[in-house]
Amino acid sequence: MTEMLLEHHSTHEAKTDWWKDAVVYQIYPRSFADANGDGLGDLPGVTSKLDYLQDLGVDAIWMSPFYPSPLADGGYDVSDYCDVDPRLGTLDDFEVLVKSAHRRGLKVIIDIVPNHTSNEHPWFREALASLPGSAERDRYIFRDGTGERPPTDWQSHFGGSAWEQVGDEQWYCHLFDKAQPDLNWGNEEVREYFLSVLRFWGDRGIDGFRVDVAHSLVKDLSGPLRDQPNLDGALPLDGSDPLYDRDGVHEVYRSWRKVFNEYDPPLMAVAETWSPANSRTFLYARPDELGQVFDFSLLKSSWSRNSYRDTIDTSLTGQQSIAGHAGGNTWVLSSHDVPRHASRLALPAGVSADGWLLSGGLHPVIDQDCGQRRASAATLMMLALPGSAYLYQGEELGLREVSELPRETLQDPVWHRSGGTLKGRDGCRVPLPWTKSGPSFGFGSSHAWLQQPADWADRSVQAQENNPDSMLSFYKLALQHRRDLSALRSGEFEWQNSAPELLVFTRSPRFVCVVNFAPYPVPFEDFGGSRIILSSGPVDGLYLAPESTVWLSLDSASETL
Ligand code: GLC
Repeated sequence: MTEMLLEHHSTHEAKTDWWKDAVVYQIYPRSFADANGDGLGDLPGVTSKLDYLQDLGVDAIWMSPFYPSPLADGGYDVSDYCDVDPRLGTLDDFEVLVKSAHRRGLKVIIDIVPNHTSNEHPWFREALASLPGSAERDRYIFRDGTGERPPTDWQSHFGGSAWEQVGDEQWYCHLFDKAQPDLNWGNEEVREYFLSVLRFWGDRGIDGFRVDVAHSLVKDLSGPLRDQPNLDGALPLDGSDPLYDRDGVHEVYRSWRKVFNEYDPPLMAVAETWSPANSRTFLYARPDELGQVFDFSLLKSSWSRNSYRDTIDTSLTGQQSIAGHAGGNTWVLSSHDVPRHASRLALPAGVSADGWLLSGGLHPVIDQDCGQRRASAATLMMLALPGSAYLYQGEELGLREVSELPRETLQDPVWHRSGGTLKGRDGCRVPLPWTKSGPSFGFGSSHAWLQQPADWADRSVQAQENNPDSMLSFYKLALQHRRDLSALRSGEFEWQNSAPELLVFTRSPRFVCVVNFAPYPVPFEDFGGSRIILSSGPVDGLYLAPESTVWLSLDSASETL
């Protein structure tokens, strides 16, 4: 351990705010690489692919949960916060991973899941074995109902009531699956315990945390519980919702920040909140709290110039004026929770991704070329924005959403809890294809836990790595330029006037990004002489191809940007 920490601090850049402009690559461990051939990705699998990630040019990896878990929600149901799921490896494997990542200059961020535990966590077992009103039950949210009726109308995000009844007729709250009981953050023992979990992983050399459902920890549990008027709708702007985004939650993160600052450099953290980006969202990113908050508005936006522009404006002004520090923005196009953007962006305006998924991708049949085009244009635009970008494993291969997964193989609790009316998130969690052939395209030596489509042979790393025209080569080039161009790290952002089909912005006076949202070529301004750095589609004279993005330099030598 000591050796590892020394290495961490000696070979790592001492830049403390590295995360403000980092490109972070999300790894969903069960679907990334399977080293032991059991069909499930694992930590040694991740370690074996670190050269690939270094070569891709990302700055950090974010590991989705790898903790012991009954997998009721893909690992977001944790039964032990201070260990590794034996199916994924051991704590020693984790240490090797961190050490190997740091040796390559890659930072390591891990997920922490504080809103709920697994129902197999020892605390929950103790709660079930204890009496109503006991200290064991007080770590969770147990209440009496009225006969058959639960205490409130609170709904689970995965469908159905957020209450489950136990043998003695009390009910416990679960905002997600019934196997994910919510913790009571009014309980001092819960608060203290999580501080020790932060230190446990901080001492193992990690660089930061992604905080799961960060805005729901503190609920209004005083007196009789109130019904929930706003589930998944717009949250009130005054923190008055009983479940989400309450003022009290910030106190928790101020205490976490003190722990983060015990490390040198301080640990970073990013909040996951699904509330609409508003003045309250950026409060989580204040310097004495988490520092960064996910802004999912780009990911929620359809392929539309005006919506992209509004989203970017809201995010940039929100971060600057509310969180009180510039450059802490986050941009996301894909994750393990939403259909992959190479498919999603091809859906016609107004078509819901849920309905499309439920039809097995048949209604409507989408134009996958259009998806690839828009996805690479959106990515290139995202990588030119100030702040940090979060990539999701496989997007660099242009992987599509696997909408045709057989229903009997679906694992997401959303599928089961919605009574088969929502297909859920398995389609973006299908294991990665590394080679053109093999039982799981090089993911492992056996079949993968979710079936990969046959067309992924051509999307595999092996099929793309030596092809200069592939999506993988495009991502590598974009990331390399992003590293090399100081304008993209610190240049002032400014919108420029443009044709109505285009979005044009500059970073410092000499870098220009032009996005064409139209399905036809559109001319753009040359700013008195520019040179193309990189483009996601052809540029003919001063016409940018349909649904494409181009990066331009106004200097002949890019280094001086
Ligand atoms: C977050 C995770 C999601 C999980 C949920 C419950 O939204 O990203 O995958 O299902 O929290 O932990």
